[in-house]
Amino acid sequence: MVGLQFPDDFVWGAATAAYQIEGAARDDGRGPSIWDTFSRTPGKVYAGHTGDVACDHYHRYAGDVGLMADLGLQAYRFSIAWPRIQPDGTGPVNPRGLDFYDRLVDELIGRGIDPIITLYHWDLPQALEDRGGWAHRDTAAWFAEYASAVHLRLGDRVRTWTTLNEPWCSAYLGYAAGVHAPGRQDAAVAFTAVHHLLLGHGLATRALRAAGASKIGITLNPAAVLPADPQSEADAAAVRVVDGIANRIFFDPILAGGYPADVLEHMRRFTDLAFIQDGDEKRIAAPIDVLGVNYYSPTYVAGRPGAGGGGPAHPGTEDILFLPPAGPLTEMGWQIEPAGLTALLERIARDYPGTPLLITENGAAFADKAGPDGQVTDADRIAYIDGHLRAVHTAIARGVDVRGYLVWSLMDNFEWAEGYRKRFGIIHVDYQTQRRTPKDSAHWYREVIARNGLDS
Ligand code: NOJ
Repeated sequence: MVGLQFPDDFVWGAATAAYQIEGAARDDGRGPSIWDTFSRTPGKVYAGHTGDVACDHYHRYAGDVGLMADLGLQAYRFSIAWPRIQPDGTGPVNPRGLDFYDRLVDELIGRGIDPIITLYHWDLPQALEDRGGWAHRDTAAWFAEYASAVHLRLGDRVRTWTTLNEPWCSAYLGYAAGVHAPGRQDAAVAFTAVHHLLLGHGLATRALRAAGASKIGITLNPAAVLPADPQSEADAAAVRVVDGIANRIFFDPILAGGYPADVLEHMRRFTDLAFIQDGDEKRIAAPIDVLGVNYYSPTYVAGRPGAGGGGPAHPGTEDILFLPPAGPLTEMGWQIEPAGLTALLERIARDYPGTPLLITENGAAFADKAGPDGQVTDADRIAYIDGHLRAVHTAIARGVDVRGYLVWSLMDNFEWAEGYRKRFGIIHVDYQTQRRTPKDSAHWYREVIARNGLDS
């Protein structure tokens, strides 16, 4: 394989999220979130794991930032736990919650690492879920108030602000499939949640802009939907349906001014759409400066009447076959296909030109085993990341404006419904001792960053 150089100003980093790493679930006035409730509900999370302690990052953040500096990270994407800032979801802010992120940001900047903030990575204050959660319109406005409060404290030092992480998961996994918090199972409610999440994004973007934030974006997990048979018209039609409810339902309101007609029609099968009010599409379309793209795996579909569809997370796809993942898989059972990332990036650049892209997540879980010396030889993870970096490079060479790559994840952590049994980190975490050990992939990634590219 040939060596590859990335653009001079390409940004290298890693990503995490609050509930997955922080622990300290009751410290300093933090309120409960929907994930505290969900993880305590029997049968929802593998082996009853919770984020109560996680990687104890809340207490170990300084050491963790030291590890980031050792890797040569230029940027670190992390999320703010809304229930630390507003324990009840609305009203007065809890200064001790903000203090933690203040310290973290200072530590990062002190080590030359650019903080990239995600305001919402799934841990809605439970008090807001009790009032209807994302199915309740006011949650959008409350989110914007919370965003302003965080910006007021950190805006002098943080340049990049991301409103939501993967609203597809919040809405469809949380409110339709019920496999993520809050565990509801109602397609109509899920579409309502999609809209209110988008509205929250738009309102928060405006509020952040008014407060002087310079770089604002959102992170999506667009599906790389591909036809089982590229020659088949039925498969192309299936791709269009899935692309509609997974991708264009987010892309179009955010980047193209409103929902596509076919997506509105699809949603109408489940709801009267009364939740879309006059002026909402304009609010959602507030200009952004960067689009975060999370990519792990492609989705292959075929048009097949009665095939059953993609399950409750894909409402209204009964006549579509979702092909089982094939070829090499990660430990999540996800198909490994870097070319899917190139195709996805090219498609976004073609259909929604003008917005710089940032890979805000990419990485893989594998069954890592620490050797007797503690070393973790994770050649499969290195191969995964290497392949996807080449895919990003190909997209850049074809003219796509990709500004950086953030690996998921800095360290092993709470993988939502999978608990701690799936390890995505480039740093190994021993949950008994909280000892961190950089895996081989971390050493490899350090070299990639140092060279700004890949060797042969
Ligand atoms: C997407 C999510 O943003 C993150 O929280 C999760 O751990 C990874 N993907 C891996 O599933």
